[in-house]
Amino acid sequence: MTSFGGPWTQEKLEIIGAYLDAYTTALKDQPFQLIYVDAFAGEGYWRPGSAYAAEDYEEFTELLHGSTTIALNVGDRPFDRFVFIERDNKRSQALDELAHQHSARRIEVIPRDANSVLPRFCESMGQFDRAVVFLDPFATQVSWDTVAAIAQTNKIDCWILFPVGAIARMMPRGSSPPTSLKAQLDRIFGGRQHWEGVYQEPAQLSLFPTKPSLERASGSAQIADCYRNRLETVFEKVAPTSRTLRNSKNSPMFELFFAAGNASGADIAVRIAGHILTRL
Ligand SMILES: C[S@@+](CC[C@H](N)C(=O)[O-])C[C@H]1O[C@@H](n2cnc3c(N)ncnc32)[C@H](O)[C@@H]1O
Repeated sequence: MTSFGGPWTQEKLEIIGAYLDAYTTALKDQPFQLIYVDAFAGEGYWRPGSAYAAEDYEEFTELLHGSTTIALNVGDRPFDRFVFIERDNKRSQALDELAHQHSARRIEVIPRDANSVLPRFCESMGQFDRAVVFLDPFATQVSWDTVAAIAQTNKIDCWILFPVGAIARMMPRGSSPPTSLKAQLDRIFGGRQHWEGVYQEPAQLSLFPTKPSLERASGSAQIADCYRNRLETVFEKVAPTSRTLRNSKNSPMFELFFAAGNASGADIAVRIAGHILTRL
């Protein structure tokens, strides 16, 4: 059983769980096949891990539901189909076991890289399919092309855990990133022009007439804003509220975004997500 996550793990799962309940209830009387896609699926359960400060979570001694089991337990109007993508062999085997325990449900476990599986899932969606996709990586695994493929379906609502802490570490404050990291940032943002704006010439002029090196402002909010702007270019609507998930030292680790892909459902979807993000 994996021990992973930090204090943010429980927080994000409560938000996702509340949304899945509300989403299926809202579409209860619609003629859609509802699909839940967990693209970084884990193994069904988790135990607070070493990343926790022990005192934060000492009340949790039991196993906790992961996102896949939370989705399977949505009750009022259950999902019709589940797609669990998990690259790690051991974890995908645990998901096979979970699928076996829920043999009455339609569950596919795909032991592969989410960035190669998701575009094909998107292409396979039928006219009456609607899906929620949860992108819950440990770090910077989600490529922009994958997010764009999700948005292009116009049938998917997407929760995205954007690893703002890891990305801030890839972006030195005092100079622009080295070439290898630039390539990674291009993959994550879908092009250099979408992230390099966080680097500016220093406001204070140097006494020395050399070409000033670029620097970025402190904090990670500006990086998260770049990604939100990017999401707004491809999705129908992005919830104006997002949630900054912090570690026990109060440093931002992830920004949890919600983006809606369907033109006629986007307003209500964003309203529901926004309500959950401000209330929970
Ligand atoms: C934060 S955990 C997911 C936790 C899960 N959502 C839960 O609530 O139980 C991230 C998972 O993504 C898997 N993973 C990492 N890179 C992947 C990739 N490229 N494609 C699919 N799965 C990946 C890891 O093995 C890990 O299990």
